[in-house]
Amino acid sequence: MPNDIPGGRALRSISRRQLLGYAGTTTTGLVGLALTGCGGDDSASNSTGSPAPGSTPAGSSTTLPGGTSIAGDLAWKQPAVIASVNGVLETRLTIEGKLVPSGNKERWAITVNGTSPGPTLLLRPGDTLRIACENKLPHSTNLHTHGLRVSPEGNADNPFIEIKAGETFDYEMKLPADHPSGMFWYHPHLHHHVAEQLFAGMFGAIVVEDALDELPEIATSTERLLLLHDTRDAATESGVTSATMMDLNEGREGPLLLVNGVAGQKLAAAPGTLERWRLLNASTSRFYRLKLDGHQLHVIARDGGRLAAPEAVDELTLVPGERAEVLVQPSKEGAFALRMLPISRGAMSAASEATLLTMSVSGSAAPAATLPAKLATLPSASSLKVTGSREVSLEMQMGGGPPRFLVSGKAFDANRIDTRVKLGTIEDWTVRNIGTMDHPFHLHIWPFLVLERSGGGPLPAGWKDVVNVPAGGFVKLRIPFEQIGGKSVYHCHILDHEDQGMMATIEAT
Ligand code: C2O
Ligand code: CU
Ligand code: CU
Repeated sequence: MPNDIPGGRALRSISRRQLLGYAGTTTTGLVGLALTGCGGDDSASNSTGSPAPGSTPAGSSTTLPGGTSIAGDLAWKQPAVIASVNGVLETRLTIEGKLVPSGNKERWAITVNGTSPGPTLLLRPGDTLRIACENKLPHSTNLHTHGLRVSPEGNADNPFIEIKAGETFDYEMKLPADHPSGMFWYHPHLHHHVAEQLFAGMFGAIVVEDALDELPEIATSTERLLLLHDTRDAATESGVTSATMMDLNEGREGPLLLVNGVAGQKLAAAPGTLERWRLLNASTSRFYRLKLDGHQLHVIARDGGRLAAPEAVDELTLVPGERAEVLVQPSKEGAFALRMLPISRGAMSAASEATLLTMSVSGSAAPAATLPAKLATLPSASSLKVTGSREVSLEMQMGGGPPRFLVSGKAFDANRIDTRVKLGTIEDWTVRNIGTMDHPFHLHIWPFLVLERSGGGPLPAGWKDVVNVPAGGFVKLRIPFEQIGGKSVYHCHILDHEDQGMMATIEAT
C-alpha cells in the first residue's frame, strides 16, 4: 500500500494556483495545463497517487494567453507530494528498479513509489516522520535524510543501517520544534553503493515549511521544485550503473540531464508574477553552474539556511548535495533558457554547456513583482563561542595501484570513531583538499557557517551542510554541536569518492 496515508496539504504553489486560478488568469486551458502533471495536483489526491514525472504526453503545441504559441509540453512536472497530517507523516516508500518514461522510450531507473525522483515529503517543524522503506531491489540499500536535524541513532537518520533485498525497515525521526525550514532530501547511503543507486535515480525532496512561507510576497509566488539529476539513458540496470575506472576516480557523470526526472521541461510563467524555485543538485558528481537567460536569480536560502535578505546573482553554482531557493521575476514575453554553463572541478571531463529547461513567459509586459525586503535573522559567527578547533584533510592518494580515497589519512571504517565531539560545544574546522580535484565536503546532522574559503570570493551566508573545498585549497567552518548527540559521518559528496573511502565517522556525546 504505497499510498495509504491521507495527505492534508499540497505544496503551496498548487493550492495557491487553485485559489488564484494560476496567477489570476482566467484562461481555463492554462489552468488545466498548469495542473496536469503536477504531482499531487490537489490536496485531496496526494494520497491516491499522482501522475509520474514524465507521464504527460509530450510533443503537443499550446496557445498561451496573449496568443503566443509554444511547441512542446507546457505541463510542469514535479513529483507527487506526501504531506504530514496532525504532526505525523507516515508512509511507505517502495524502492524498485524498473523502466520509466524517457521521451518516447523507456529507461531503467531505481524508483521510489514508482517514480524517479520519488515523492516529496512535506513536513513542519516538530513533526514525526515514519517511513516504512521497502527494498524491492536485488541488492541492499538504506535511506538518509540529508540536512534534517534529527537523531542519527537507532531507527532514525542512521547511515549504518542496511536494508537487505526484499526487506522492509521502519524509520522514525522526530524533527525538533525549532527545526529550520527549507529543502532537504533523501537518498541512499549504503557504503560502496551510494553512487550507483543515486545515479540510477533513487532520491526525493523533503520540504519543511515555516513562517517565511507566509511572507506576502512569497505566499503569492509560484513555488516549484527543480531537482537536478544526471544519469544514463539505458534500458538495463548494468547499462545505467556500470562504471569505468575513470567514472570511479573522477566521479561519474551522465549525459542525460534531468529536472524532476524529465529532460527538456518547459515552464510557463506570466509577466509580473514571482517564481520561487527550490533547486537541488541530486547528481552523483556533476557540478552545476546555472544561469537563467535575461533574469537574475534572487537567492533567499542556501542548503537548510535562510538568508537575511534576497541576494541577486547572475549565476549560481551548486555542487552535489547543495540546495538553493531563488526568486525569479518574469516581466516580459519570451523563451528563457536555464543554462548549465561550463565549470571545472578538476576532473578530465569538464562539463559543457546545455539547456536544462526553458521558461516560457507570455502575456503583456508587467512591472517585476516585488521581492521581500527582509527574510530571516541570521546568527553572526562571532556570537558563537568557539570551544575548540580541528583539522580535516580530504585526499585522493595516487601512485602504485588504484588511487586511495582518504579523510585525514584514513579510508572509511564504520567500526572506528574518527572524531569525538562534546555535545553543546562549538568547533572551528579547517578542511583541506590535498589534490587536484574539488571535493564537496558534507557533514550530517550538524549544519555550519562558512568562515573562510581559499581563493577568495563571496562566502555563502547562512547555515550550510555542503561546501565545496577547491583543489589544493581549504575552507574554514564554524560548527555548533548542539541538541543532537550520536554517531554519524562526514564525507565528500562526489559519491564515488565517498563509496571508495572518502568518509569518516563522528560521535557527539
Ligand atoms: Cu547527502 Cu551523507 O549525504
Ligand atoms: Cu547527508
Ligand atoms: Cu571527492
